[in-house]
Amino acid sequence: MFEHLQVWINGKMVPWNKATVHLMSHSFSRASAMFDVFGIHPGPNGPVAFRMDKHLDRLFRSAELLGMEMASTKDDVAKAVAALVKANNIGRGLAKILAYYSEEAVISLVMDSKADLAVFAIPETDELGLDKADPISICLSKWRKLHPATVPVEAKACANYLNGVLSRKDAVERGFDLGIMLTTDGYVAEGAIESVFMVKDGVLKTPSLGNVLQSVTRMSILEAAPMIGVETSEEKIMPEDLLAADEIFTCHTGIKVIPVKRIEDRVLNEVPGPVTAKIAKLIKDICEFRDDRFKDWFQPLD
Ligand SMILES: Cc1ncc(COP(=O)(O)O)c(C=O)c1O
Repeated sequence: MFEHLQVWINGKMVPWNKATVHLMSHSFSRASAMFDVFGIHPGPNGPVAFRMDKHLDRLFRSAELLGMEMASTKDDVAKAVAALVKANNIGRGLAKILAYYSEEAVISLVMDSKADLAVFAIPETDELGLDKADPISICLSKWRKLHPATVPVEAKACANYLNGVLSRKDAVERGFDLGIMLTTDGYVAEGAIESVFMVKDGVLKTPSLGNVLQSVTRMSILEAAPMIGVETSEEKIMPEDLLAADEIFTCHTGIKVIPVKRIEDRVLNEVPGPVTAKIAKLIKDICEFRDDRFKDWFQPLD
């Protein structure tokens, strides 16, 4: 499906089918890779990236947390994204940056080599379904979120995603769209690739940082909501509070605000509820360039 696309690897453009590593590469066989993803939008004056500065900060923070030395700078990555958006003729789409060790390593640790860097710019497809915010059903996953003392959960390490894959699989097998994992001490954490918000008595609440990814969408919603009069709170949330919420939505960079219509066997009344609808409209207006207050959330890609 993507054979026609170019990929940027360590400073060079290569065709999609040449973007490969050996099965024995350290990152494939030992899961020592990490990544970041952000949105590309057709701006009024050309393509732009949604909060690329924050995503690149998180990419390099992930590298620091994982002790990975990067061979490229943030500026190299930003330039690579711009070059790929042009080469691949992307309107709406996603940029994915992958840092990994391509060395073949049967048993050894790769300690002293610099991480390889691959940059992808991928156009919107039906399967990606960017901006398709159909209401979803969620359950509480039987899998707990990785404990921050076992791996840095703040890092977008590929290995951390086994946790999310299992929670998603468990949810789908139980007839739900996705599962929300609890922390090992029983508080609400997040989904496989999404943060979770709930509304109670008009207040928009989300789990505090510490056990969840520092989602850029989560951060953006927390910054923007008070500007339209929505009170927010980052706090420890008990599963019973989520189960009894007035409104729930999940969010991530691909689809932004996704309303929840059912949690376990409870069907929510009005979907999207009034606060969710207000937040979804605000974010949609921002991403469609109708709200000048947030212009600096987009970086030009030409
Ligand atoms: C575990 C997890 N939580 C939350 C998110 C949402 O983060 P963002 O808003 O930066 O896409 C993601 C997305 O990558 C994720 O993988």
